[in-house]
Amino acid sequence: MSNEEHQGDALENLLQENRKFPPSEEFAATAVAKPAIYDEAKSEGTEFWARQARELLTWDTDFTQTLDWSDAPFAKWFVGGTVNAAYNALDRHVEQGNGDRVAIYFEGEPGDTRTYTYAQLTEEVKKAANAFESLGVSKGDRVAVYLPMIPEAVITMLACARIGAVHSVVFGGFSADALRSRIDDAEAKLVVTSDGTYRRGKPSSLKPAVDQALKKEGHTVTSVVVVKRNGEPVEWQDGLDLWWHDIVDSASAEHTAVAHDAEHPLFILYTSGTTGKPKGILHTTGGYLTQSAYTHKNVFDLKPEKDVFWCTADIGWVTGHTYVTYGPLLNGTTQLMYEGTPDTPHQGRWWELVEKYKVSILYTAPTAIRTMMKWGDEIPAKYDLSSIRVLGSVGEPINPEAWMWYRRVIGADKAPVVDTWWQTETGATMISPLPGITVTKPGSAQVPLPGISVDVVDEMGQSVPNGSGGYLVIREPWPSMLRGIWGDPERFKETYWSRFDNMYFAGDGAKKDADGDIWLMGRVDDVMNISGHRLSTTEIESALVSHPSVAEAAVVGARDETTGEAVVAFVILRGSAKSDDDIVTTLRNHVGQEIGPIAKPRHILVVPELPKTRSGKIMRRLLKDVAEGREVGDASTLADATVMQQIATSMRK
Ligand code: WT7
Repeated sequence: MSNEEHQGDALENLLQENRKFPPSEEFAATAVAKPAIYDEAKSEGTEFWARQARELLTWDTDFTQTLDWSDAPFAKWFVGGTVNAAYNALDRHVEQGNGDRVAIYFEGEPGDTRTYTYAQLTEEVKKAANAFESLGVSKGDRVAVYLPMIPEAVITMLACARIGAVHSVVFGGFSADALRSRIDDAEAKLVVTSDGTYRRGKPSSLKPAVDQALKKEGHTVTSVVVVKRNGEPVEWQDGLDLWWHDIVDSASAEHTAVAHDAEHPLFILYTSGTTGKPKGILHTTGGYLTQSAYTHKNVFDLKPEKDVFWCTADIGWVTGHTYVTYGPLLNGTTQLMYEGTPDTPHQGRWWELVEKYKVSILYTAPTAIRTMMKWGDEIPAKYDLSSIRVLGSVGEPINPEAWMWYRRVIGADKAPVVDTWWQTETGATMISPLPGITVTKPGSAQVPLPGISVDVVDEMGQSVPNGSGGYLVIREPWPSMLRGIWGDPERFKETYWSRFDNMYFAGDGAKKDADGDIWLMGRVDDVMNISGHRLSTTEIESALVSHPSVAEAAVVGARDETTGEAVVAFVILRGSAKSDDDIVTTLRNHVGQEIGPIAKPRHILVVPELPKTRSGKIMRRLLKDVAEGREVGDASTLADATVMQQIATSMRK
């Protein structure tokens, strides 16, 4: 059976899914979004977004044009407007009398806690902004942020935004090499890091990776600011390294936010594509902030005076940008931030936190939901989860069983589940039910948000009828769309805008059901989704072949019950290298070093040959069949028909 057919089967099963959950009358009655919002968006066109921008943000100078699409696909939103992101996330709430509202409840993995009100967070950000400026960082400069989930991560991002510096957050699970290539690509002037963090009950370090990254000459970094988090000893380079507490704590708490142009770059975030080199996705200010606030408010039915919001994503991913730093603070939300792992010191840690902080809106990933489902219902049952009223899912398709479990066990069979589809590139949620309006279906993200125009099209770019599948596209520009790939405008056009005319190609497969609701089917390109994290097959292949023992490598994502996909690598060794357990361990570690622990293959299989077409393209589909333990599909286009036989034989050994 071919992979496409196999996918098709899974799809048929999915579309048999016919459970439906209408919102309760009670929920609908007080919901933030009313059904009329869909018609408003339709009839108002881009004016709908102009209205959102003015209602949700405080502009310094009002914009004169909502959208300039004359240089498509390079969009300009809210032309002529000026706005400061940090002022909107912080100062204005204090000015409006909400300075005493809690912005962040922080809980460290060891159980230490900190609380920041809006007034306190504003003060910290002003100090950090002054400190960064004193290091010579100014508008337009890039700042690499390599921090764990501690409040300083949010403070650093907002301090950058305040002064117009462009943050580039690098996930703490990436290696020194990955950090260095991102520092180089963005030509970062400053790096903000910490001595480390806590992971599974033990201190874990971060600073050594920064030291390692900056060892080789030729970088652009002039200062490294280090937050003391776990107190582990660190190496120190005078003239480069500075303690956060030395420069931020003593800085002035007076800092006036200057407004920046709506199209001023706000951040770069690297994400894996289909080639070996990660792309620096560029987001700008006005449009990104508008859609972040709009989606956070409507998708989660936010009532900022009483809700406690918790997004479990790390700041290193776009979810942590939009739904930890920007969306919640722009909307004046009280949120929880947790540093550590979900099973430390015990498997009930998340539910203990929900009970302790009375979390009312929880936003997490299917992989976490499936993990907790495996741990058993009796664990969440020990805690009072009655504060929960909305549940969100993001990162990969959520299977109906996990969706049902989430709703039943965590949401007491009544909290609406919103499955939100979006990407690093889209900046904010694009497809999602609206709680209080949408009749939800387990496993489907269902409908584009008001103001967003998505479709499913066939090979030719024609819209498919209900009941059919194809490629997910976005038909109209949207405020938080990426403005390009840092330093590579051609790659931006080529990657997203060349597959279909005048449409953004997302890289996902999707299907419309009989009602026209959208079901996401996973990537159609060489991008894998491991626990909701995006990894490129090519990037891992490049890492493998950079090892002297490897002649050739092919990587596939194999279906996995918990993590969605798992990395499986097939390698051909060089003549002299021995195939044994040692080489497998060596290669796994090598990938960890080149990219980061998250990219380490689950399995590495040493094979004599790789299946290739006559034009030399590796047929990953066949390898995926092997990796998933299926009968191998149609191999008739292979250059050498015996290759799959050879692989099967070598695996039996
Ligand atoms: C890819 C984007 C969105 C922030 C986290 C990931 C997949 C994301 C869903 C969902 C099905 C989803 C897609 C997308 N994806 N959310 N609700 N249902 N698939 O951001 O790393 O940029 O990855 O994640 O394949 O293209 P990202």
